[in-house]
Amino acid sequence: MVLLEASGLVKSFPKAGGSVEVLRGVDFRLDPGEAVAVIGPSGAGKSTLLNLLGALDRPDAGTIRLAAAHAAYPVGSTDREALTLPTRSLRAVTAWRRRVVGFVFQYHFLLPDFTALENLLLPVRLLREPQPADRERADSLLAAMGLTDRADHRPGELSGGEQQRVAVARAFMNRPRIVLADEPFGNLDRAKGAQLRDLLFALRDREGTALVIVTHDPELARQADRILELDGGRLRPVA
Ligand SMILES: Nc1ncnc2c1ncn2[C@@H]1O[C@H](COP(=O)(O)OP(=O)(O)OP(=O)(O)O)[C@@H](O)[C@H]1O
Ligand SMILES: [Mg+2]
Repeated sequence: MVLLEASGLVKSFPKAGGSVEVLRGVDFRLDPGEAVAVIGPSGAGKSTLLNLLGALDRPDAGTIRLAAAHAAYPVGSTDREALTLPTRSLRAVTAWRRRVVGFVFQYHFLLPDFTALENLLLPVRLLREPQPADRERADSLLAAMGLTDRADHRPGELSGGEQQRVAVARAFMNRPRIVLADEPFGNLDRAKGAQLRDLLFALRDREGTALVIVTHDPELARQADRILELDGGRLRPVA
């Protein structure tokens, strides 16, 4: 079964005197639970591709087909049908994203005035008033990340590695089917990066979440099930 399938993605951006075609027909498929690393030179369009896959931006051409969201949607919801981007309404796409996709960026983007625990509950609040089960879920993720004793700390009171661990936990909070990570550990030193890499893959194994990780780190790429290289606007498998 395919979780997400992109075909013929084209994306250009305006630049002085014309436009630059960053993606020139990208095909990509993601199966449930698999981890895919995307490598490629700076400026190749890796972040652009992640933004399209996560429906943060729309392609100029091409389609992204998303499998029905499984348990992520309540039974009876019309959104259980397969979703094709970019033809669905913005509202449907936003609802899909909040339930099905988690994001980890190079910079953590935690809210500074909220504690680690409150930051974890934010993705839930976008969907509903948090329930006791959500609090248990947050506690369990903080424990998985070794952050139980940091739950009440604000981001400014956490180290860089701890902040990024909170960001990873937050990405998993709504039990997404897909976590998209853009240079997730690019700001950390080698040892911290390696530790977080192992925590991320342990969470993926525990929850069966598919991962798409953009990285310059060969060790992180090797830990994935497949490596793809984006170059010249196209995505190819790395032998
Ligand atoms: N919103 C935008 N407006 C104009 N140009 C953009 C925009 N976003 C990206 N680009 C251009 O598209 C190209 C690809 O950018 P992108 O950020 O996807 O590259 P990347 O592979 O993620 O690079 P890096 O490894 O440095 O993060 C670059 O030339 C960039 O300048
Ligand atoms: Mg980038």
